[in-house]
Amino acid sequence: MSQRLVILGLGYVGLPLVEAAVETGWQVTGFDVSTAVVDGLNAGKSHVDDLSDATIAGLLAKGFTATTDDSVLADADVAVICVPTPLADDGGPDLRAVLSATRTIAKHLHKGMLVVLESTTYPGTTDEDVRPILEAGGLIAGTDFNLAFSPERIDPGNPVYGMRNTPKVVGGQTPACTDRCADFYGSFVEKVVRARGTREAEAAKILENTFRHVNIALMNEMARFCHELGIDLWDVIDAAKTKPFGFMPFYPGPGVGGHCIPIDPNYLSYKVRADLGYPFRFVELAQEINNTMPAYTVSRISELLNERSKPLRGSRILLLGVTYKPDISDQRETPSRPVADQLIAKGADVVFHDPHVKTWTVATGDLTCVDNLLDEVKRADITVVLQTHTAYNFDEIAAAGGTIFDTRGKLRQAGVTRL
Ligand SMILES: NC(=O)c1ccc[n+]([C@@H]2O[C@H](COP(=O)([O-])OP(=O)(O)OC[C@H]3O[C@@H](n4cnc5c(N)ncnc54)[C@H](O)[C@@H]3O)[C@@H](O)[C@H]2O)c1
Repeated sequence: MSQRLVILGLGYVGLPLVEAAVETGWQVTGFDVSTAVVDGLNAGKSHVDDLSDATIAGLLAKGFTATTDDSVLADADVAVICVPTPLADDGGPDLRAVLSATRTIAKHLHKGMLVVLESTTYPGTTDEDVRPILEAGGLIAGTDFNLAFSPERIDPGNPVYGMRNTPKVVGGQTPACTDRCADFYGSFVEKVVRARGTREAEAAKILENTFRHVNIALMNEMARFCHELGIDLWDVIDAAKTKPFGFMPFYPGPGVGGHCIPIDPNYLSYKVRADLGYPFRFVELAQEINNTMPAYTVSRISELLNERSKPLRGSRILLLGVTYKPDISDQRETPSRPVADQLIAKGADVVFHDPHVKTWTVATGDLTCVDNLLDEVKRADITVVLQTHTAYNFDEIAAAGGTIFDTRGKLRQAGVTRL
């Protein structure tokens, strides 16, 4: 008999998990608090980049359903929490969705159930925040039910690494919880890695993101002085990365985006400060440096216009690619937004083009993607490459003429200025 799985939170993380589990024969129900999400999915509509409408239709045909009714948890063998963990207004963690999803499960918690938290969070959440809510009804984690943390490593838009071939870290409340959780993921993930416990699994995820955050900040800081010193940092990185050991390339850019790199390290620095009373200096410094990159990008645009005797005010500035990473439509925390807002605030005439975004909301209202890209490149006083979607033919764009500023360092065409 197939086992019953309920996934709470049907977004970028929950849906790929639904897909992998359905394909393996799990009887999967998705629970979400958003009726729009649930109705859309039940009508065969995908709202995430990595799953097409056809995939959702295929999942529905194999028995998947989405619901806002939590009674589906009553006979679930496994419940996995994939809800958002944003930052609160004060910059600290906002665990409201995790706690609410946990309370939903607690209402239906029964003996033998496995509860897994996948949402990225600070070390200690599973044990200190989730477990007490679940145990309030009298059942004990590790004795009556299994509890574990397993960080999500979804990389939206990555054509090589998906759910199945990305190793899955699991850390249980007890070794038996770890085993149960490893068995669950082992049914559809090629390699499961056992962490010592929930805290180690939670910290592993934040270490991965903090590592990226700090190294990107290192490159962003170098980008500034390499520009001043007349050194081509992109060439430097290309040379350094030929070392076959001990080096991993990271790249500067107009700022960090998405809802992982700019957000998750804060969960760790919050925990260090709250529990230990001192700052996590690397994270705070990286945050400071990365946050200045949109303004630095604007200053470089201004510098390039100035060389052509043009002020920012009144100049037509074409922004190419406004999502936070290539080849997806996700705009969460995209640094293109502060770049556009700052340019508009200085009086620039900002237009944008992105093959994945039709309407883009900036501080002053909605912008509509321009139609004829090459004509717009010719018309603009400066074209700023903020994202290098593979749909772009940069040879054509560079050949169209005009001033081109590449913040991603991908363009090698003559006349292009790189960050
Ligand atoms: N998207 C990624 O690339 C990625 C990668 C690794 C880790 N993560 C982490 O995974 C978690 C989920 O991220 P996401 O990108 O899938 O978020 P998302 O916003 O795409 O989807 C979350 C879904 O959860 C639903 N939801 C909110 N509160 C709920 C509740 N109480 N009960 C049930 N459903 C609820 C929302 O309606 C939404 O549909 C976050 O902690 C995130 O940091 C995301």
